[in-house]
Amino acid sequence: MGKERTLSVVGAGAMGGQIAYLAALHGWDVHLVSRRPERLQAAHEQSAKLLRRRVEKGTLDRDECEAALARVQSSTELAMISGASVVIESVAEDRDTKREIFERISEHADEDAIIGTNSSTLPSSMLQGCVREPSRFLNVHFFNPPLVMALVEVVRGPHTSEPTVLRAMEFARSIGKTPVLVAKETYGFIANRILFIAIQEAMRLVQDGYVSVADCDLAVHNALGWPMGPFALADLVGLDVVESILAEGARQTGEARWEPLPILRDYVERGELGRKTGRGFTTE
Ligand code: 3HC
Repeated sequence: MGKERTLSVVGAGAMGGQIAYLAALHGWDVHLVSRRPERLQAAHEQSAKLLRRRVEKGTLDRDECEAALARVQSSTELAMISGASVVIESVAEDRDTKREIFERISEHADEDAIIGTNSSTLPSSMLQGCVREPSRFLNVHFFNPPLVMALVEVVRGPHTSEPTVLRAMEFARSIGKTPVLVAKETYGFIANRILFIAIQEAMRLVQDGYVSVADCDLAVHNALGWPMGPFALADLVGLDVVESILAEGARQTGEARWEPLPILRDYVERGELGRKTGRGFTTE
């Protein structure tokens, strides 16, 4: 398979890992890179389990599944990202970590590769100073869990060229996603901007004693058709992640409506972060 259908993913956490295996499922050769070998192993095991479950359910062909798993090459060496037409960064949501990674990505990525950051809170214009060729750089934002959620937001930064935007949209389509173009940067882009303000309202209602967590989730699920209520969703995303998205929103917009509420801060302070710690709003 040539470079055109070769993807490099940097960061093998909950998002990066699934993005890699999803692309492999759609025929891309993938290099998945993480500093931590245990992350690479966990990403492989989780995706292998999910995809093999599809085989058992009869929604995925066994040979296709095994071929996809074999198309992902894991490595702890960032130099492995060379030879790809698309590079997706999905490391920790921390500005300094991302800046350092982009300097290293710029050293190793092919000159004509497009580089997408999966950041949900940092628009590419805040990171473009660390990228060798900003015209080929933009946010390519996936949703959790990436193997399931259909949307990808392609966010045009002031520095992003039109061919880069088109290539990112095409990449998203080629891995079975529905891309939407965010024509200019705004905090939270589209879906998160709506979602996290809704989560804030849910937390305010519970904090002020109008409704219980369980009834609030029931109301939103049954009245608005969300697959899971705002609290179950916050537990899925991770309460520390929810808190940092809100806090960054308050910082970047200066709007008080983003400020994390005490009810959320208390959970995070206690280390109860939702599904990943086994305790959160909807888990005992
Ligand atoms: N990873 C991968 N796949 C998963 C998964 C996970 N964590 N959890 C469930 N799935 C898969 C299952 O394997 C199953 O796949 P299959 O149909 O191929 O067998 C499918 O999802 C359905 O799973 P279930 O039947 O077990 O459960 P549900 O029908 O309740 O679906 C859900 C689970 C897909 C998580 C669904 O509840 C849902 O869509 N929830 C809303 C998720 C959402 O809103 N995400 C956006 C969060 S915001 C975000 O990501 C932005 C970021 O910037 C923070």
